[in-house]
Amino acid sequence: MTSEILKQLHWRYACKKFDPSYILSEEKLALLKESFNLTATSYGLQPLKMVVISNPKIKEDLVSKTMGQAQVKDCSHLMVLCTETKLDAAFIEGYFQNVQQTRNTPEKVLAPFKEFLKADFKSKSPEFIDTWMAKQAYIALGNLLTVCALQQIDACPIEGFDASQYDTYLNLTELGLQSVLVLAVGQRDQSDVFAGMQKVRRGVDEVVIEL
Ligand SMILES: Cc1cc2nc3c(=O)[nH]c(=O)nc-3n(C[C@H](O)[C@H](O)[C@H](O)COP(=O)(O)O)c2cc1C
Repeated sequence: MTSEILKQLHWRYACKKFDPSYILSEEKLALLKESFNLTATSYGLQPLKMVVISNPKIKEDLVSKTMGQAQVKDCSHLMVLCTETKLDAAFIEGYFQNVQQTRNTPEKVLAPFKEFLKADFKSKSPEFIDTWMAKQAYIALGNLLTVCALQQIDACPIEGFDASQYDTYLNLTELGLQSVLVLAVGQRDQSDVFAGMQKVRRGVDEVVIEL
Protein backbone atom coordinates (compact mmCIF):
# COMPACT_ATOMS: atom_id res chain seq x y z
CA MET A 1 0.00 0.00 0.00
CA THR A 2 2.73 2.47 1.03
CA SER A 3 4.77 1.70 -2.05
CA GLU A 4 1.64 2.00 -4.22
CA ILE A 5 0.99 5.51 -2.85
CA LEU A 6 4.61 6.53 -3.40
CA LYS A 7 4.51 5.06 -6.90
CA GLN A 8 1.52 7.25 -7.74
CA LEU A 9 3.08 10.34 -6.14
CA HIS A 10 6.09 9.78 -8.39
CA TRP A 11 3.81 9.14 -11.38
CA ARG A 12 2.10 12.51 -11.01
CA TYR A 13 3.76 15.68 -12.24
CA ALA A 14 2.63 19.17 -13.12
CA CYS A 15 1.41 18.33 -16.61
CA LYS A 16 2.57 20.87 -19.17
CA LYS A 17 0.90 19.35 -22.22
CA PHE A 18 -2.51 17.72 -22.14
CA ASP A 19 -3.99 15.47 -24.82
CA PRO A 20 -6.70 17.82 -26.16
CA SER A 21 -8.86 14.91 -27.38
CA TYR A 22 -9.14 13.27 -23.96
CA ILE A 23 -12.29 13.81 -21.89
CA LEU A 24 -12.41 12.81 -18.25
CA SER A 25 -15.16 10.29 -17.42
CA GLU A 26 -18.23 11.45 -15.49
CA GLU A 27 -17.22 9.01 -12.75
CA LYS A 28 -13.78 10.60 -12.30
CA LEU A 29 -15.26 14.06 -12.49
CA ALA A 30 -17.76 13.17 -9.77
CA LEU A 31 -14.90 11.81 -7.66
CA LEU A 32 -13.03 15.11 -7.93
CA LYS A 33 -16.14 17.10 -7.01
CA GLU A 34 -16.77 14.90 -3.96
CA SER A 35 -13.10 15.10 -2.96
CA PHE A 36 -13.25 18.88 -3.16
CA ASN A 37 -16.34 18.91 -0.97
CA LEU A 38 -14.75 16.49 1.53
CA THR A 39 -11.66 18.66 1.97
CA ALA A 40 -10.95 19.53 5.59
CA THR A 41 -11.18 23.25 6.32
CA SER A 42 -10.48 25.27 9.44
CA TYR A 43 -13.54 25.19 11.73
CA GLY A 44 -15.26 23.27 8.91
CA LEU A 45 -16.53 26.55 7.47
CA GLN A 46 -15.74 25.67 3.81
CA PRO A 47 -15.54 29.24 2.47
CA LEU A 48 -14.90 27.69 -0.95
CA LYS A 49 -16.51 26.91 -4.27
CA MET A 50 -15.11 25.24 -7.37
CA VAL A 51 -16.08 26.25 -10.90
CA VAL A 52 -15.69 23.33 -13.33
CA ILE A 53 -15.16 24.38 -16.94
CA SER A 54 -15.43 22.04 -19.91
CA ASN A 55 -16.67 24.59 -22.48
CA PRO A 56 -13.89 24.82 -25.16
CA LYS A 57 -14.53 28.50 -25.93
CA ILE A 58 -14.27 29.50 -22.26
CA LYS A 59 -11.09 27.43 -21.82
CA GLU A 60 -9.58 28.99 -24.96
CA ASP A 61 -10.45 32.51 -23.77
CA LEU A 62 -8.75 31.87 -20.45
CA VAL A 63 -5.32 31.15 -22.01
CA SER A 64 -4.53 34.87 -22.35
CA LYS A 65 -5.57 35.38 -18.70
CA THR A 66 -3.25 32.53 -17.62
CA MET A 67 0.10 33.84 -18.85
CA GLY A 68 -0.47 32.04 -22.15
CA GLN A 69 -0.41 28.60 -20.52
CA ALA A 70 -1.93 26.18 -23.04
CA GLN A 71 -2.85 23.66 -20.34
CA VAL A 72 -6.05 25.59 -19.63
CA LYS A 73 -7.40 24.99 -23.14
CA ASP A 74 -6.00 21.50 -23.79
CA CYS A 75 -7.06 19.96 -20.49
CA SER A 76 -10.33 18.06 -20.23
CA HIS A 77 -11.68 20.17 -17.38
CA LEU A 78 -10.46 23.34 -15.76
CA MET A 79 -11.23 23.74 -12.08
CA VAL A 80 -11.21 27.26 -10.66
CA LEU A 81 -10.93 27.20 -6.89
CA CYS A 82 -12.65 30.23 -5.39
CA THR A 83 -13.19 31.75 -1.99
CA GLU A 84 -16.16 33.79 -0.82
CA THR A 85 -15.83 37.56 -1.32
CA LYS A 86 -16.94 38.02 2.25
CA LEU A 87 -17.20 35.76 5.22
CA ASP A 88 -19.78 37.48 7.40
CA ALA A 89 -22.14 36.58 10.25
CA ALA A 90 -24.76 35.30 7.77
CA PHE A 91 -22.25 32.84 6.30
CA ILE A 92 -21.31 31.55 9.76
CA GLU A 93 -25.01 31.31 10.63
CA GLY A 94 -25.54 29.15 7.50
CA TYR A 95 -22.76 26.79 8.57
CA PHE A 96 -24.32 26.24 11.98
CA GLN A 97 -27.76 25.66 10.45
CA ASN A 98 -26.14 22.92 8.38
CA VAL A 99 -24.55 21.36 11.50
CA GLN A 100 -27.90 21.50 13.28
CA GLN A 101 -29.76 19.86 10.40
CA THR A 102 -27.08 17.28 9.62
CA ARG A 103 -26.36 16.15 13.16
CA ASN A 104 -29.53 17.19 14.89
CA THR A 105 -27.43 19.11 17.43
CA PRO A 106 -29.52 21.36 19.68
CA GLU A 107 -29.10 25.10 19.05
CA LYS A 108 -28.20 25.55 22.74
CA VAL A 109 -25.12 23.33 22.34
CA LEU A 110 -23.91 25.14 19.21
CA ALA A 111 -24.61 28.72 20.35
CA PRO A 112 -21.39 29.42 22.33
CA PHE A 113 -19.07 28.30 19.51
CA LYS A 114 -21.20 30.10 16.93
CA GLU A 115 -21.04 33.36 18.87
CA PHE A 116 -17.30 32.92 19.38
CA LEU A 117 -16.73 32.48 15.63
CA LYS A 118 -18.94 35.45 14.72
CA ALA A 119 -17.08 37.71 17.16
CA ASP A 120 -13.69 36.33 16.12
CA PHE A 121 -14.24 36.92 12.38
CA LYS A 122 -15.76 40.35 13.07
CA SER A 123 -12.55 41.39 14.83
CA LYS A 124 -10.32 40.43 11.85
CA SER A 125 -9.46 42.65 8.90
CA PRO A 126 -10.82 41.75 5.43
CA GLU A 127 -7.20 41.13 4.32
CA PHE A 128 -6.64 38.65 7.15
CA ILE A 129 -9.86 36.80 6.29
CA ASP A 130 -9.00 36.73 2.58
CA THR A 131 -5.62 35.18 3.36
CA TRP A 132 -7.21 32.70 5.74
CA MET A 133 -9.78 31.68 3.10
CA ALA A 134 -7.07 31.35 0.45
CA LYS A 135 -5.22 28.93 2.75
CA GLN A 136 -8.34 26.75 2.77
CA ALA A 137 -8.31 26.75 -1.05
CA TYR A 138 -4.71 25.50 -1.00
CA ILE A 139 -5.74 22.60 1.24
CA ALA A 140 -8.38 21.70 -1.35
CA LEU A 141 -5.75 21.90 -4.10
CA GLY A 142 -3.45 19.53 -2.22
CA ASN A 143 -6.31 17.15 -1.62
CA LEU A 144 -7.29 17.17 -5.30
CA LEU A 145 -3.70 16.67 -6.45
CA THR A 146 -3.37 13.57 -4.27
CA VAL A 147 -6.69 12.14 -5.43
CA CYS A 148 -5.67 12.80 -9.06
CA ALA A 149 -2.38 10.99 -8.47
CA LEU A 150 -4.08 7.97 -6.92
CA GLN A 151 -6.62 7.80 -9.76
CA GLN A 152 -4.09 8.39 -12.57
CA ILE A 153 -5.72 11.66 -13.52
CA ASP A 154 -3.14 14.07 -14.87
CA ALA A 155 -3.23 17.54 -13.39
CA CYS A 156 -1.49 20.88 -13.42
CA PRO A 157 -1.88 23.22 -10.45
CA ILE A 158 -1.82 26.82 -11.67
CA GLU A 159 -1.07 29.98 -9.73
CA GLY A 160 0.12 31.83 -12.82
CA PHE A 161 -3.16 33.48 -13.78
CA ASP A 162 -4.75 36.90 -13.46
CA ALA A 163 -7.34 36.48 -10.72
CA SER A 164 -9.13 39.77 -11.37
CA GLN A 165 -9.46 38.95 -15.09
CA TYR A 166 -10.84 35.51 -14.22
CA ASP A 167 -13.29 37.08 -11.75
CA THR A 168 -14.62 39.46 -14.39
CA TYR A 169 -14.69 37.03 -17.32
CA LEU A 170 -16.36 34.22 -15.35
CA ASN A 171 -18.75 36.61 -13.54
CA LEU A 172 -17.37 35.35 -10.24
CA THR A 173 -17.78 38.69 -8.49
CA GLU A 174 -21.53 38.57 -9.17
CA LEU A 175 -21.59 35.13 -7.57
CA GLY A 176 -19.88 36.51 -4.46
CA LEU A 177 -16.67 34.67 -5.30
CA GLN A 178 -13.03 35.39 -6.03
CA SER A 179 -10.66 33.04 -7.83
CA VAL A 180 -7.61 31.84 -5.92
CA LEU A 181 -6.21 28.83 -7.78
CA VAL A 182 -6.67 26.92 -11.01
CA LEU A 183 -6.33 23.19 -11.56
CA ALA A 184 -6.24 21.72 -15.05
CA VAL A 185 -7.11 18.01 -15.24
CA GLY A 186 -7.10 15.48 -18.05
CA GLN A 187 -4.56 13.16 -19.62
CA ARG A 188 -0.93 13.89 -20.43
CA ASP A 189 -0.02 14.16 -24.09
CA GLN A 190 2.50 11.51 -25.06
CA SER A 191 4.81 14.25 -26.35
CA ASP A 192 5.05 16.04 -22.98
CA VAL A 193 8.77 15.83 -22.20
CA PHE A 194 8.15 16.83 -18.57
CA ALA A 195 6.42 13.49 -17.91
CA GLY A 196 9.68 11.55 -17.98
CA MET A 197 11.78 13.99 -15.97
CA GLN A 198 13.25 13.15 -12.57
CA LYS A 199 11.54 14.79 -9.61
CA VAL A 200 13.53 17.67 -8.19
CA ARG A 201 13.13 17.66 -4.41
CA ARG A 202 15.33 18.69 -1.51
CA GLY A 203 15.40 15.21 -0.02
CA VAL A 204 13.65 13.78 3.01
CA ASP A 205 16.71 14.19 5.24
CA GLU A 206 16.83 17.87 4.41
CA VAL A 207 13.15 18.75 4.76
CA VAL A 208 12.24 16.60 7.75
CA ILE A 209 13.53 17.43 11.22
CA GLU A 210 13.13 14.76 13.84
CA LEU A 211 13.36 15.69 17.48
C1 LIG B 1 0.32 26.38 -5.89
C2 LIG B 1 1.03 25.93 -7.12
C3 LIG B 1 1.02 26.75 -8.25
C4 LIG B 1 1.64 26.34 -9.44
N1 LIG B 1 1.52 27.12 -10.57
C5 LIG B 1 1.95 26.61 -11.74
C6 LIG B 1 1.69 27.30 -12.96
O1 LIG B 1 1.11 28.38 -13.00
N2 LIG B 1 2.11 26.71 -14.11
C7 LIG B 1 2.75 25.50 -14.13
O2 LIG B 1 3.09 25.01 -15.20
N3 LIG B 1 3.03 24.85 -12.99
C8 LIG B 1 2.64 25.35 -11.80
N4 LIG B 1 2.86 24.67 -10.65
C9 LIG B 1 3.58 23.38 -10.71
C10 LIG B 1 4.93 23.38 -9.97
O3 LIG B 1 5.87 24.11 -10.68
C11 LIG B 1 5.34 21.94 -9.74
O4 LIG B 1 4.37 21.30 -8.96
C12 LIG B 1 6.70 21.82 -9.08
O5 LIG B 1 7.71 22.30 -9.91
C13 LIG B 1 7.01 20.38 -8.70
O6 LIG B 1 6.99 19.55 -9.83
P1 LIG B 1 5.99 18.33 -9.99
O7 LIG B 1 4.63 18.79 -9.54
O8 LIG B 1 6.01 18.03 -11.46
O9 LIG B 1 6.49 17.19 -9.16
C14 LIG B 1 2.30 25.09 -9.46
C15 LIG B 1 2.31 24.28 -8.31
C16 LIG B 1 1.67 24.68 -7.17
C17 LIG B 1 1.65 23.76 -5.99
